[in-house]
Amino acid sequence: MSDPVLRLSAVAHVFLGREVVSKLDLAIARSEVVALVGPSGCGKSTLVHLAAGLLVPRSGRITRAYARHGMVFQEPRLMPWADALENIAFAARLAGQGRAQARQAARAAAERVHFAAEDLGKFPVELSGGMRQRIAIARALVAKPDFLYFDEPFTALDVALKRRMQDLVIAASAAASLGALFVTHDLAEAARIAHRIAVMHPTGQGIAGLRAVPGTPGHRTETEIFDLTRHWQAEDPLFRHIHDVDERRIA
Ligand SMILES: Nc1ncnc2c1ncn2[C@@H]1O[C@H](COP(=O)(O)OP(=O)(O)O)[C@@H](O)[C@H]1O
Ligand SMILES: [Mg+2]
Repeated sequence: MSDPVLRLSAVAHVFLGREVVSKLDLAIARSEVVALVGPSGCGKSTLVHLAAGLLVPRSGRITRAYARHGMVFQEPRLMPWADALENIAFAARLAGQGRAQARQAARAAAERVHFAAEDLGKFPVELSGGMRQRIAIARALVAKPDFLYFDEPFTALDVALKRRMQDLVIAASAAASLGALFVTHDLAEAARIAHRIAVMHPTGQGIAGLRAVPGTPGHRTETEIFDLTRHWQAEDPLFRHIHDVDERRIA
């Protein structure tokens, strides 16, 4: 791939003397959404943290050609003492914007994720799980990133809400041509939002394989998504282990 926005080459990482991920090679093109799947404990979050620079790899090379990234985690990680508007604006402040400008950017970001303006003065404890996760997405978008990381962001949400959030992510990334690395253990979610799907080795030894997802995110029908998911699970050996539990954790 020429000119990827993110590239990991032979990346490995060690926690407490144990090599948890190794031989990680992955390149993501500009404006490309790659879903990363794999069994629990295989190292998906570790890969995201390495790629985003929150962890320094033990070995290997990571090149980032994006200017700024945003991140969304499974838990919204909001500041409990700040209202919704300030939670979003804080990220814009961190990116160097002045107070008034940051608040204005926060209002615009809230609108992009369909968070009602009249709720912007509410504190996290007053918001539902879905509203909190909208705030987390707005916060990731507020400083106009050109790349996004998602680490199982919708796992805690019910099916209908999850669907709406996925549509939101598809629309937001398409509107700004954002590239993204989206960790999920939900194959239907991957089939809905991604251009390509990367399957991680069940015990972290590299990316086991990649598949292009036919069609375009946001334009696949429910039937297509269902058929694709079923095909991967029933007929594609690459997906055989993705629902395994990591025995290293049980030991
Ligand atoms: N901070 C840490 N210290 C020690 N071990 C860790 C740490 N974070 C993750 N691990 C271990 O690394 C492995 C990969 O974890 P993780 O990247 O969270 O997997 P996943 O996101 O795929 O569930 C697991 O065995 C986990 O227990
Ligand atoms: Mg994880």
